Amino acid sequence: MTSCKVAILEGDGIGPEIMREALKVLAVIDGRNDVSFDLIEAPFGAGAYFDHGHPFPEQTQAICDSADAILKGPVGLAHEEALKIPVDMQPERGAVLPLRARYNTYANLRPVSLPKALAHFSPLKPEIIGDGLDIVLIRELVGGLYFGNKIVGVDDNNLRYVEESLRYDEAQIRQVLKVAFDLAVQRKNVLHNIHKSNVLKSSVLWNEVLEEVRQDYPGVDVVNMLVDAAATHLCLNPCQFDVMVMENMFGDILSDQCGGLLGSLGLMPSACMGDGKAYYEPSHGSAPDIAGQNIANPYSMIGSVAMMLEYSFDMVDEANNVWAAMQGVFSDGFATRDLAPSGSSAKIINTQAFGDKVVGKLQSLGSK
Ligand code: IPM
Ligand code: MN
Repeated sequence: MTSCKVAILEGDGIGPEIMREALKVLAVIDGRNDVSFDLIEAPFGAGAYFDHGHPFPEQTQAICDSADAILKGPVGLAHEEALKIPVDMQPERGAVLPLRARYNTYANLRPVSLPKALAHFSPLKPEIIGDGLDIVLIRELVGGLYFGNKIVGVDDNNLRYVEESLRYDEAQIRQVLKVAFDLAVQRKNVLHNIHKSNVLKSSVLWNEVLEEVRQDYPGVDVVNMLVDAAATHLCLNPCQFDVMVMENMFGDILSDQCGGLLGSLGLMPSACMGDGKAYYEPSHGSAPDIAGQNIANPYSMIGSVAMMLEYSFDMVDEANNVWAAMQGVFSDGFATRDLAPSGSSAKIINTQAFGDKVVGKLQSLGSK
């Protein structure tokens, strides 16, 4: 029996309730495989700041250091509540970015997946959505504006100003591009490189490095596309994309747009991969407006479990079972509230019922 230590950071807002469902799913996998998941919960986020004085407390850092993988819920508070926390201690800045930096999780994989049977969840017209969506967006996660030098001050004209720098070195660019090319090879040998080299020098360097890296991948077709144009193409013809790669900020914005294409950000799990450790999280926020109501969609949290099974524990079959179980619940006509526009015929179920149904499907989908 292999023991796998997983740090559980449930986070804020809807975090605890969607994590609860994800852990029910993980328990099924644990129960029928030769692995035992040793789950260690640790405080992280705004709650951790109020209880322990820091959104990423030292004890949580130690637990994450010793874990084989980290499963993390969303963090953050409503705007007015967040103002009660000093700017640098707010959980996005004080916890999420330090977590990414600590484990150098430079490649963020965000699958944008909507099988044909679920295409009605998308706000796009059927003729645009075609056979459904199957895109993987790869976002550089530890560089660019998010991590650049920041200066805040008052200038000679007595005007408050801020300066934030967008910095990448070629090694940072190369490492994420290799992940993207490797994935393109495993999929359809097409890579969309999203950039803004008509304005940003960082994109000029990015594209130069891409030309070097692609020498090792002669079979991959590269399509270079400006980020603003990509935003339009995602709406007008999303099916042209398979693997997309881009720098940090572009990826933050376009991945939320992709959530819109799917019909809900609740359908966006993600994997944050470094050379050593990886952590897994929904791409969305903590939705404080619906927290505690048992109506949030746990798909992105459960999907993050599936990604953890695949990438950290090499349990590809069980990962596929988790995806199939979730699709099965949708195919039976059920949906969480976020996915059911008024007038739709979906049978609305709550967070817990979605989790229970996924567990039921998973149990009937063979063990190893
Ligand atoms: C995301 C989130 C984060 C980001 C926040 C929580 C720091 O929006 O993962 O997309 O901006 O990267
Ligand atoms: Mn985001």
